[in-house]
Amino acid sequence: MCGIVGFTGARAAAPVLLGGLERLEYRGYDSAGIAVLHGGAIRVEKVSGRIAKLREKTGDGALTPGSAGIGHTRWATHGAPTDLNAHPHLSNDGRFAVVHNGIIENYLELRRELIKDGYVFQSETDTETIVHLLEKYYDGDIKTAVMKTAARLEGSYALGIVCTDTPDALYVVREASPLILGVGVGENYFASDVTALVSHTKNVIYLEDGEFAKLTPDSIMVCDCAGRELKKPISRVTWSVEAAEKGGYEHFMLKEIMEQPAAVKAALAPRIHEGRVQLDGFELSADELRGVGKIIITACGSAYYAGCSGRYAIERLCRVPVQVELASELRYSDPMVDEHTLVLVISQSGETADTIAALKECKARGAKVIGIVNVVGSTIAKLADHVLYTFAGPEIAVATTKGYTTQLTVLYLFALYLAEKLGRIDADSYAALVKELQHLPRKIQQTIDMNWQLPKLASRYSSRSLFFIGRNTDYAVALEGALKMKEISYLHAESYAAGELKHGTIALIEENQPVIAVCCNEALMDKTLSNIVEVKARGAKVKIVSQADDVIFIPRAETVFSAALAVVPLQLLAYYAAKEKGCDIDKPKNLAKSVTVE
Ligand code: F6R
Repeated sequence: MCGIVGFTGARAAAPVLLGGLERLEYRGYDSAGIAVLHGGAIRVEKVSGRIAKLREKTGDGALTPGSAGIGHTRWATHGAPTDLNAHPHLSNDGRFAVVHNGIIENYLELRRELIKDGYVFQSETDTETIVHLLEKYYDGDIKTAVMKTAARLEGSYALGIVCTDTPDALYVVREASPLILGVGVGENYFASDVTALVSHTKNVIYLEDGEFAKLTPDSIMVCDCAGRELKKPISRVTWSVEAAEKGGYEHFMLKEIMEQPAAVKAALAPRIHEGRVQLDGFELSADELRGVGKIIITACGSAYYAGCSGRYAIERLCRVPVQVELASELRYSDPMVDEHTLVLVISQSGETADTIAALKECKARGAKVIGIVNVVGSTIAKLADHVLYTFAGPEIAVATTKGYTTQLTVLYLFALYLAEKLGRIDADSYAALVKELQHLPRKIQQTIDMNWQLPKLASRYSSRSLFFIGRNTDYAVALEGALKMKEISYLHAESYAAGELKHGTIALIEENQPVIAVCCNEALMDKTLSNIVEVKARGAKVKIVSQADDVIFIPRAETVFSAALAVVPLQLLAYYAAKEKGCDIDKPKNLAKSVTVE
């Protein structure tokens, strides 16, 4: 979703801002803009559409001189993706410019008040209220104006602000929206995402909710919402610049699919010592273990589907009931959660608004929350009682791949950890499963290597609607496979529990209907095969993802872990189908990488 960047230093700001915005492109956006301080004024340039257009308009930044500025990529919420609605927004007196991530929930009330006060609005956005509030509250002290403005805002925001009275300074403040400061030498930065910073500096400061900061080329001052100055620690980002680049692949998505063996290894390696699973200093006390009467897994989208697979692993190995809940539903469901519930919250970005709300709801009811998160320092990582990082590295393509398989990996580790702690697994099975888990990276690589035929297979689907079926763990994979296909190739794809087809959906099966059957659960193979026969009898063409019309093979694996292998050909199938159709694979239409609104 929206992205913000800011730069102040001795060199030209606009090229740095444009480069930063390009690094945030993957989050999804439909307009972009920059504001640069120069000669006592603020110059704003904005466009609907792509950053390439903004580059053209600003002569790659050369036509927008100045060494301090702010930039924004907007994913439209309030008002269409037009030039006028694009950020930055200017105050009526031209003194302030603002970029904003998040949503101001009380903007209509503020807008009415400001119009009454005589302020003129140029856009339909919620953000514009902020810049007029700054003008209203400004009496020569910017910090006070920002604090007073922030106190009026309800909702979520990460704000970047410049003011003509302080031509080398940037001001930021956050509430429920990520904001990171980049610490340079003779120059400083801010961004909503570290990927915009890593090519300049790996030294960062994570701002917390309610914190305000002023950045100049040589200083960073952070204070809390009461205006008290804070000493914030500087953290080191471990992601490399190369990790956030395509590295010779045509798309980030393909690169990230290919990175899965390494990513899964990175999630496993630090957590298996001498044949035992150890979870980052994480220990459930005997009391807490006794208290694990029920586990709830909550997440959105693919992370939810990872949870669906994880449920089978946990229930099978630990014999503890697991409920998997969509975060957007859980938050409003008056959930049956108490201090005896262990909640696993899964999120690649750690910033998904519904998932954060579900987490807060569960915590408020006394549950212990474990976050399974990729992005270090993200909101979910901070709110959870304990975090298990997935160590996938930066995931740039909007459609998650290595984010998902590393979530599965951590869930498998967790299942083994808990099974042992609860005494629900015998020593031999435990040892065999730990070993099997260590083979996952190699088997994912084999899965990729042995399925060179997928581009050809995908080309046969690129104009069809598809069904994905499976049972049990295979059904969880079918759900993720169908989502991948929909989101990047825009093909209509539905997933069904194989046994459910005959209760209605089979009516849709006709001659040549492609059906992808995930068939990796050996114990249920015969059952799924019967369902395959049913659809074939009605003319369907069936592709099978299986250990065993077309068969896509994966290496033999323990059923409980097979989702991490079976999903890989489905990711590739979706990728090649989208490529065949000429889709914008890394930035599918209408989608955003991190869904920070409800
Ligand atoms: C699909 C996809 C989304 C995310 C969902 C949750 O490919 O990426 O469905 O899985 O938006 O995002 P996170 O994991 O960041 O909470």
